[in-house]
Amino acid sequence: MIFKHDVIIVGAGLAGLRAAMEVAGAADTALLSKVYPTRSHSGAAQGGIAAALGNEEEDFWEWHMYDTIKGGDYVADQDVAEILAKDAPRAVYELEHMGVPFNRTPEGKIAQRAFGGHTRGFGKAPVKRACYAADRSGRVILDTLYFEGVRKGLKIYPEFHMLDLVMKDNRVVGLVAYELATGEVHFFHCRAVLLATGGYGKVFKTTSNAFASTGDGVFLAYRAGIPLEDMEFVQFHPTGIYGLGVLISEAARGEGGILRNHQGERFMERYAPTIKDLAARDVVSRAIATEILEGRGINGRDYVHLDLTHLGEKKLAEKLSDITSFVKIYLGIDAATELIPVAPTCHYMMGGIQAGSHGRVLDTEQNPIPGLYAAGECSCLSLHGANRLGCNSLLDLVVFGRRAGTSILQDLKHLSWDDPPAHPMKEVQDRIRSLKERKSGEKHGRIRSAMQETMTRNCSIFRTEQSLSQALAEVRALKQQAGRVAIDNLGTRFNTDLLEALELEYLLGLAETIVVSALGRKESRGAHFRDDYPERNDDDYLKHTLVQRTDDGPQVSTKPVTITIYPPKPRTY
Ligand code: FUM
Repeated sequence: MIFKHDVIIVGAGLAGLRAAMEVAGAADTALLSKVYPTRSHSGAAQGGIAAALGNEEEDFWEWHMYDTIKGGDYVADQDVAEILAKDAPRAVYELEHMGVPFNRTPEGKIAQRAFGGHTRGFGKAPVKRACYAADRSGRVILDTLYFEGVRKGLKIYPEFHMLDLVMKDNRVVGLVAYELATGEVHFFHCRAVLLATGGYGKVFKTTSNAFASTGDGVFLAYRAGIPLEDMEFVQFHPTGIYGLGVLISEAARGEGGILRNHQGERFMERYAPTIKDLAARDVVSRAIATEILEGRGINGRDYVHLDLTHLGEKKLAEKLSDITSFVKIYLGIDAATELIPVAPTCHYMMGGIQAGSHGRVLDTEQNPIPGLYAAGECSCLSLHGANRLGCNSLLDLVVFGRRAGTSILQDLKHLSWDDPPAHPMKEVQDRIRSLKERKSGEKHGRIRSAMQETMTRNCSIFRTEQSLSQALAEVRALKQQAGRVAIDNLGTRFNTDLLEALELEYLLGLAETIVVSALGRKESRGAHFRDDYPERNDDDYLKHTLVQRTDDGPQVSTKPVTITIYPPKPRTY
């Protein structure tokens, strides 16, 4: 079928929904989601949303801006970080007025707690800046925004999976999507597309990300020739449940939790003497990995302990009830009396589709691509630099989701309807047909696991030229094998076998861009740590990486970082 809407938003997480609130009602707007909208991965966010409200202790947006830039190891564009920090209080009060049930202080204000890398007085001590609803902050904000969208009459296509971005003469004319319930392929003709498709943690073996986090929008934009930015910066959250990767919120440490090694030592005192367990995530994850590598993991194994036993049952029940129940369900552990085994887990991608702070997607010459926008984790607005601070993600989604919506409304005044190419669905239909017709071949699950293995072994917290070259060779070999995948399920209804085969191309393509970008950055900065270049090198690498698809493979280039107020300094916590 062919559908026609002025604006198509792809992704029903907070970025997509917040943008939709700006556009729906003013223009014919539709939202597509590969999962049922309220199952979007934003709903898994636990700890909170950052804003310098100063409800619990003195705080200022300038401190928040500084922490964001220092957290990003000085490759965060400072003008963008300023927008985020300044707009945060407005964004949080807006959510409050929509009905988000934040925890409260005794006087009834929005309660706030400490979080990694958020400090008072430019790094002096942790500050309570994270506004939260227990440890299900993303869940309640997602539900609230979803109901707002429904209330505004937003047209929603649930369980529609985008399979192609259709461009003509360097502008967007629509997209192709697969309807999971029927197996039909549809063309959506439109004047503007907002990509808000989230991250791609599934490139790695252990991740806090949902099954749906396969980087669809990022890869399809890349395949269409659009540059990706800062792909080498992959965040490993320090505390995933050991062996599973399920998130144990940083809020657990914000509320007083302590990391301990095999001797029970509070080892973060050695790595971050000022703010200890609440240092930025890259610092804490590297510390855990170092403890493990040096034999101080629990019983010599590859995990450490998170100690919440001193917090008391009342605090756990009031503020950390979800994670308390996760460890009970998955590990049979009572967090009030027992230590929790944790290890770093792939959590967030700082890199993504290159876009400006207005949400307009940019080409290599930094010009907006007419009709194409990006927001949320799939985008790279040069905001989070080399390492995102906790609670800046939910904030990014609502601040920059709204800005992208505003840009779309403005641009619709001059965006015309362009005719689509003659057969916009043909390529996708051919791809599906050839997959279904192949009688035997490789299994996508095996190739996906092999990719996750090599990326985890060779391109995670610690990297070297050799490990990255190994990852690149293996990913490229797997790409060849992926061209020979055969599927078992030839049906039309909820054919996840088929979709996982298609997602494999996205994951492998993105894995390649991560490795190629990481090879190009011969220094250590934020989440990108090179054992062979262990120092930050501002002379040569205070810049963003861009990677673009060419017929000869990914082409890497760079662009400058915007520095307005805070000059780069050595980064200690
Ligand atoms: O630890 C957490 O609750 C994660 C928050 C975030 O990634 O912003």
